[in-house]
Amino acid sequence: MKFKILTLFPNMFDGFLSESIIKRAIDSKKIDISIHNIRDYANNKHNQVDDTPYGGGSGMLLMCEPIFKAVEDVKSKNSKVIMLSPEGKTLTQEKAYELSKEEDLILLCGHYEGFDERINTIVDEKISIGDYVLTGGELPAMVLIDSVSRLVDGVIKEESHIKDSFNDGLLDYPQYTKPREFRGMQVPDVLLSGDHEKIENYRKEEALKKTKKERPDLIEKYEKKRKKIGNFTLIEDYSKKKIEEININDTFNFKPKNNVKKEDLSSISKIVLVEPSFIETIAKKNINKKLNILLKQITIVLNDETDDTAGEYVLGEIDRLENMILSNYKKYLSSDYIKLVRNKLKVLKEEIKYKQMMQTQMINYNEEKGRSL
Ligand SMILES: C[S@@+](CC[C@H](N)C(=O)[O-])C[C@H]1O[C@@H](n2cnc3c(N)ncnc32)[C@H](O)[C@@H]1O
Repeated sequence: MKFKILTLFPNMFDGFLSESIIKRAIDSKKIDISIHNIRDYANNKHNQVDDTPYGGGSGMLLMCEPIFKAVEDVKSKNSKVIMLSPEGKTLTQEKAYELSKEEDLILLCGHYEGFDERINTIVDEKISIGDYVLTGGELPAMVLIDSVSRLVDGVIKEESHIKDSFNDGLLDYPQYTKPREFRGMQVPDVLLSGDHEKIENYRKEEALKKTKKERPDLIEKYEKKRKKIGNFTLIEDYSKKKIEEININDTFNFKPKNNVKKEDLSSISKIVLVEPSFIETIAKKNINKKLNILLKQITIVLNDETDDTAGEYVLGEIDRLENMILSNYKKYLSSDYIKLVRNKLKVLKEEIKYKQMMQTQMINYNEEKGRSL
């Protein structure tokens, strides 16, 4: 994901870009951040980018010309132009998730009294980071980049941000680390019990209590996100990536297929629905992993002149992968993708069979030679 920052003060970003998670995300190419100095787009000899407001008033306004030119210069067909402005919608976790799906964000940082009103015509969205006024849009741009980047795939572990505050509409649950006792304050016993179900229930209750106490305004929205359907409560998740959680108000006995014994029955109080697009991602990851292993095995088989059983083993593995795709993954993958993988597997099979044929011919030739001597 690309962030293109348009600013009058590029140096303000130095520390932000060279530390911690943002630096790692840039180094591992999960995100790309470029900084463009608005002054470079000024069209006068003093590189002036601001002027006094028509009708009078204090302060200076950023002029149209350099901003239009800068945006036109860095814009691509997938860009979304965001103006950091106290007039915008307030940045929330939901908005951060939405923006993390974008490919290319252009962030316009204002300064002085703000922007000439006509600049709004090239802006897709205005975002504020809260109801207060800062001297410039640089800090808001950093806040936006930070909150969005940690939701981009691979920047931090997904399980970390899925459990963060706001994702399910509540604040995070209280957490403790070592020591067990500090100045007479104890870690709650339940967290040391090792009982995962109890711990999860405790955390849910505490998150709800904390939100009611610290941010009662969030509770109404949280309730709206919980749809009651008969015996079920459906909880919508901001990440929308994989989870629609159904908490069942009663417990149901759950009997798996395949003649499972009575003592192996379990009861469920929660169902997690996984979005098909997420299964597609996982299926493709699995297939790629298996293909890579097969490629390594085939390289060994092709270079080994002695072992003729290894080829049979790898042919078996190829068949197993093909069966797995056709029986487990078919409904989640496009027919074009399946065709592509099957073609690859066919080529790999042919390579091994060709080697086996050459090996047999060589054995026959040697035997023949032995007989004629
Ligand atoms: C001093 S402010 C301009 C304030 C403007 N005259 C007003 O009253 O709305 C200069 C720049 O800082 C940025 N800025 C200030 N507060 C912000 C906030 N809460 N959220 C996002 N950007 C902000 C904007 O880019 C803005 O153009």
